[in-house]
Amino acid sequence: MVSYKEIGLVNTRAMFAKAVKGGYAIPAFNFNNMEQLQAIIQAAAETKSPVILQISKGARNYANQTLLRYMAEGAVAYAKELGWKRPQIVLHLDHGDSYELCKNCIQMGFSSVMIDGSALPYDENVALTKKVVRYAHRYDVTVEAELGVLAGVEDEVSAEESHYTKPEEVIDFVTKTGCDSLAISIGTSHGAYKFKPEQCTRDPKTGKLVPPPLAFDVLKAIEKKLPGFPIVLHGSSSVPQEYVDIINSNGGKLPDAVGIPEEQLRKASRSAVCKINIDSDSRLALTAAVRKTLAEKPAEFDPRKYLGPARDEMKKLYIHKIVKVLGSAGKAK
Ligand code: G3H
Ligand code: 13P
Ligand code: ZN
Repeated sequence: MVSYKEIGLVNTRAMFAKAVKGGYAIPAFNFNNMEQLQAIIQAAAETKSPVILQISKGARNYANQTLLRYMAEGAVAYAKELGWKRPQIVLHLDHGDSYELCKNCIQMGFSSVMIDGSALPYDENVALTKKVVRYAHRYDVTVEAELGVLAGVEDEVSAEESHYTKPEEVIDFVTKTGCDSLAISIGTSHGAYKFKPEQCTRDPKTGKLVPPPLAFDVLKAIEKKLPGFPIVLHGSSSVPQEYVDIINSNGGKLPDAVGIPEEQLRKASRSAVCKINIDSDSRLALTAAVRKTLAEKPAEFDPRKYLGPARDEMKKLYIHKIVKVLGSAGKAK
């Protein structure tokens, strides 16, 4: 058993309390490789923003959980080397799907875990979440739970609406489970195709898809039931059109990719939403930069020559999110 405290990580408790009070959100960036992690730490250190490093099931399968966990330990040392005296870095399990996995991550040094029981019947979600919370709190590890189902792109519009988190359930869920934060469903979804074209309108000037707004009425109703309780938004990439265009004009094929407009994420950050999950935008930044470099320099075969620019592009993206969207810059001096 290694405590996250021994490796200089922090849990989310104080971080979220400050963010809810201060009307900003903490960025939760997924990482799968060294370049992403370097870019995240450089961006957080430069802006002095608290940051959550998230590890998903896909990341564990791709890069190995143990290796990723040691990379996160290295990230704390790297942050200090960059001049960030007191880095506020959380190592978080994204979409944990079992008690055993959460327990294993806690023993390895994660400071926060998500137990995602959102696909289970309500009572089973409560029971599983409660069990994880009981174990995690013994080690002062914080737990994110989920209620409501994030819409899949193939879902019908009516089905999507019925998957929104039900405000009438949140008090019971949080009280029974003792979770530290709650991921809710208000219209976001994972990936680069968050809405079907028929759910959107078209901007007459640009011809680009304009997605429907998030269900802020549902968020407001939840906030009213749980004043000051930390709320989490998954699926919050904005799918920047410039990256989609670079990818598509350099041999890629991402037709009608659409994300959550930044203005809506700014609005959410000012509310009780204190953690915003972003993964797809980083994938798009990396892919756009790699495609562009390889198209311009077809003779290049040194990975550092195309992964380097990709890392720079991701860092630019992370700084933009921190400074211009979530408002977390300067909150971890
Ligand atoms: O929750 C979704 C994240 O973007 C992680 O996705 O499982 O493909 O790594 P992944
Ligand atoms: P995006 O696919 O919108 O980046 O969401 C990532 C996420 O929610 C990770 O848990
Ligand atoms: Zn997610």
